[in-house]
Amino acid sequence: MVRLTEDNEVVSWYKEKFEAHKKLIAGVVGGIVVVALILSTTNLLSIILLLAESTDRKDLCPIHNKISPQSFQFDNTTVFDILNGESFRLQSVQKLSGAVQVDTQIGDNQPDVEDAPELWAKFKDFHKYLEETFPVIYANLKVEYVNTYGLVYTWKGSNKALKPLLLTAHQDVVPVQKDTIKDWTYPPFEGHYDGKFIYGRGSSDCKNVLIAILETIELLINKGVEPHRTVIAAFGFDEEASGIRGAYNIGQFLEKKLGKDSIYAILDEGPGLMPDPLSGLIIAAPATGEKGYIDIVAELTTPGGHSSIPPDHTSIGIMGELAYIIEKDQYSPLLTTKNPVLNYLQCLAVNSNALSTLAKKAILRAGFDKFANSKVVKQLSQNPLSKYLIKTSQAIDIIEGGEKANALPENVKLVVNHRVAVETPLKDIREHFTNRVIEVAKRHDLGVVSFGKTVLNGTSGHFELREQQGLETAPVSPANDTVWKYIAGTTRHVFEDLVFTNKTEPIIVSPVLMPANTDTRHYWDLTRNIYRYSPFFSPDDISESHIHSVDEKVRVDGHLQLIAFFYEYIQNVDTAFADN
Ligand SMILES: *[C@@H]1O[C@H](CO)[C@@H](O)[C@H](O)[C@H]1NC(C)=O
Ligand SMILES: *[C@@H]1O[C@H](CO)[C@@H](O)[C@H](O)[C@H]1NC(C)=O
Ligand SMILES: *[C@@H]1O[C@H](CO)[C@@H](O)[C@H](O)[C@H]1NC(C)=O
Ligand SMILES: *[C@@H]1O[C@H](CO)[C@@H](O)[C@H](O)[C@H]1NC(C)=O
Ligand SMILES: [Zn+2]
Repeated sequence: MVRLTEDNEVVSWYKEKFEAHKKLIAGVVGGIVVVALILSTTNLLSIILLLAESTDRKDLCPIHNKISPQSFQFDNTTVFDILNGESFRLQSVQKLSGAVQVDTQIGDNQPDVEDAPELWAKFKDFHKYLEETFPVIYANLKVEYVNTYGLVYTWKGSNKALKPLLLTAHQDVVPVQKDTIKDWTYPPFEGHYDGKFIYGRGSSDCKNVLIAILETIELLINKGVEPHRTVIAAFGFDEEASGIRGAYNIGQFLEKKLGKDSIYAILDEGPGLMPDPLSGLIIAAPATGEKGYIDIVAELTTPGGHSSIPPDHTSIGIMGELAYIIEKDQYSPLLTTKNPVLNYLQCLAVNSNALSTLAKKAILRAGFDKFANSKVVKQLSQNPLSKYLIKTSQAIDIIEGGEKANALPENVKLVVNHRVAVETPLKDIREHFTNRVIEVAKRHDLGVVSFGKTVLNGTSGHFELREQQGLETAPVSPANDTVWKYIAGTTRHVFEDLVFTNKTEPIIVSPVLMPANTDTRHYWDLTRNIYRYSPFFSPDDISESHIHSVDEKVRVDGHLQLIAFFYEYIQNVDTAFADN
């Protein structure tokens, strides 16, 4: 997972997500009862409708049928061997551990490949490792190099009418901070296996996914499988620095070769399965959306001069005024059917006994009933962690200006970071920001140049607004079509029949929203069906994986579950029945 800013405020999103999830549910459970009891007569009809709502709305979160490959009916030993076989486990440990041992750290502001070949040469070592470790892949698949270090493997299917499946991961890892090396239980590039976990940078973000994909394809080839549907595996090499050299070029390459909307589905790194803290249900959570992102820079230039004869408001004072009105005017929360968070809450409402009946009813009506929606929104908004799942955040993160105690500041800069709600295009954020700047500028006779365009003239100086880094909200992937059913059905088969053989309730497969971005930002044109999903079960706190941090590690059981999932999924979708 990529961090979203240049500085060090990286929160491992796993942790963020898990915490948000716990608080989300707790928040909803706690309050709706109280809120709805303070009945106002004007809402009487809405309240009656709310109370009359059925909680039996399985249609809002259908449990799809399990799907297993045909080959499973004849011989189920392979998949059991993946999950439980001692020698398979050891071989798998060796492959992943070896991958962790090849250092592929990358920094934020690295020059391009051609400008500093020596900085990137470590990826050559990684390629050499893959070639030695997966000889069957290299003998049977077409391997292409994009921008030198991007890897694209094509396992050609016999049926051209079937769109290829694209499985993705990244080769690079975030750097280990030098002063933390002493805190690691095992050195970060040793790939130590303690019988349960493999430790090391990249072990869970996300060489585990990359190696699982290659292990799976190699196993399928060894079993004599010849696909009908082409399978492509693509691995960028700078995901942790926005993917602009790796995934970006891979996306262009694939689009040129195959066309827009040419891919069946993309599975990239993402959440997996976790226990619901309140009900104990196991929830599988493919992320179908990502919030948008934009940093807006506001720069104010005013005439300088001696501070013995200052104007009433210096540029620092005016910038302070802008900062004040920005913070006073927070974005409003909104929860529409477009947001996977609503879908997720509905899955809990339909399946979990941990929510109060009233809370369930409000959630089930929230997609179409204003009153019910306002209750759920209010509840989510009261919690600092859940509130940003349903609204745009704004944080004033940088202010710079002033040189000398006796000189007027000529130039002041403010940077505001936004994480944008799934319903909101970036242009709305730019427009909203511009209007607040105009409000201040008018009071001080200042001009405003907003994203290259003069929108206000003034004589006392001017504001200039720029976008530093922007990414639209990802298109939300479907969670109601056949592609989704195959993901859900495969998940249920693998985890209900093979992993948790003693479970009585079904596993709930629900879409979620990711607070961070992955390489898939560069693949939007290839398909609508993009899922950030690494299906393996984390029994304890999900933050056990420590991604981006000291003692990053991966549960080997989880790694094997990932292989079992890919093993069945690739076979399950190898037919036109899996098409939309
Ligand atoms: C696996 O196959 C064996 C032998 O055919 C059968 O007894 C067993 O029930 C199968 N297991 C599952 C989970 O289908
Ligand atoms: C600003 O002034 C310029 C030059 O006088 C003029 O062409 C332009 O239309 C003005 N823009 C606005 C937004 O008033
Ligand atoms: C899935 O949901 C979308 C958005 O709500 C809707 O437009 C579409 O018709 C649905 N598709 C199916 C197959 O139900
Ligand atoms: C069910 O299976 C899991 C994993 O195999 C195990 O950890 C758990 O203790 C079992 N639960 C029961 C009630 O047997
Ligand atoms: Zn990652």
